[in-house]
Amino acid sequence: MKRLIKTLTLSIVSTYAFADSELPDKQAEIPAVSKSSSVEYLKPRSLDTIPDTEFGEKVELGYSLFVNSQQMRGKYVGNEQNCVNCHMQAGMKANAAPLWGAFMAYPAYRSKNDKVNSYAERIQGCFTYSMNGKAPNENSEELVAIAAYSYWLAMGGILDQHGMGDQPVPELSDQEILQGGKREGFKLPDSIVDLYPVDERSKLAGRGYPKLADPEQKPDLTRGKLVYTENCAVCHGENGEGIKGSDGRSYLPPLWGAGSYNWGAGMHRVNTAAYFIYENMPLGKSIQLTEQQAWDVAAFVNSHERPQDPRFKGDVKANAGKYHNHDGFYGKSVNGKTMGDHAYPSGEQVIK
Ligand code: HEC
Ligand code: HEC
Repeated sequence: MKRLIKTLTLSIVSTYAFADSELPDKQAEIPAVSKSSSVEYLKPRSLDTIPDTEFGEKVELGYSLFVNSQQMRGKYVGNEQNCVNCHMQAGMKANAAPLWGAFMAYPAYRSKNDKVNSYAERIQGCFTYSMNGKAPNENSEELVAIAAYSYWLAMGGILDQHGMGDQPVPELSDQEILQGGKREGFKLPDSIVDLYPVDERSKLAGRGYPKLADPEQKPDLTRGKLVYTENCAVCHGENGEGIKGSDGRSYLPPLWGAGSYNWGAGMHRVNTAAYFIYENMPLGKSIQLTEQQAWDVAAFVNSHERPQDPRFKGDVKANAGKYHNHDGFYGKSVNGKTMGDHAYPSGEQVIK
């Protein structure tokens, strides 16, 4: 009952609801945070310290949805991905777009649409594009849970880093959690608040994927294919299809095709994929790719068909002109075919 009342209150307060026709661009590139070997990354607390409270239940649910997002398949998720595929180690890993770094970076002003994006809206973006799904509403249990989990990771890590390991993470209202930590009203202990000026909070070391310098040679699909066959196909499949278990779920994620991220996702940009791959792949880092190899294989992976950009209105070239002025293959010709013309359906098209 208590929960029901809360949900109701929240739905009144919540203001944003986008019609399909006006899907905002929530997949903007994160500004670079330079990588440094001397810096100590924030370290989230161990999961067994999640409190046994109503707030703790939300945190736990958020964790569960994040690592096993397939439990939302058909409702909010339209492909084979789990959030953890790109935000590795349950969203804790520095330089793999960790949730703790993200939480402290919102609300964020976007000059492109002259709008402030809340943390909740940024999460919605990954549902729409990376998960090729249909984003949960801001007042949904799922969105609150993932935001609560992110907050808990960030705040526990911050307290520990400053000798307050014995203090519990203060419990906040859902509304506060959904906004994110980059705002005046966000409460930090008095003793450390000066260490986190609001404008600096989006630059926590380890946020996002570390940028690489532009490649010496233009990324090349033939070289990229070679890198892929030698270092990636064993886990992601000869045709990028990933590897499925006996339950029919991918335990090794597909990189293109119907089960992958769609043409609007951040990872479809060649540069973003190159940054991710150079830092995090092949899984376990049995070898370190050169930067050029990371660029080449990122281009190769992203030169294949995948689910349609949900902002598509029937004309690939028009959609490309409007939303794809970046480093990617959407609307471009590969082996005589226009990418996006034969895209798989987007979650927005198939999830009712
Ligand atoms: C296919 C890879 C992929 C998947 C799957 C994915 N994301 Fe993301 N996510 C990204 C990329 C790429 C970015 C933006 C990085 C950039 O542009 O530099 C991002 C950004 C984010 C951010 C903002 C990070 C920041 O520092 O500003 C949040 C929060 C986030 N994702 C949450 C989620 C959640 C929750 C899920 C699951 C529902 C999810 N992501 C699934 C690739 C993915
Ligand atoms: C040993 C197995 C393995 C190898 C080899 C490997 N990967 Fe992965 N890759 C994974 C797993 C597992 C994930 C998901 C990470 C997670 O959930 O922690 C992943 C995630 C990814 C992602 C995130 C996007 C998505 O769709 O999930 C990309 C991109 C990627 N790998 C590219 C590559 C490339 C390129 C190579 C070769 C240079 C490579 N991988 C080699 C296992 C592997």
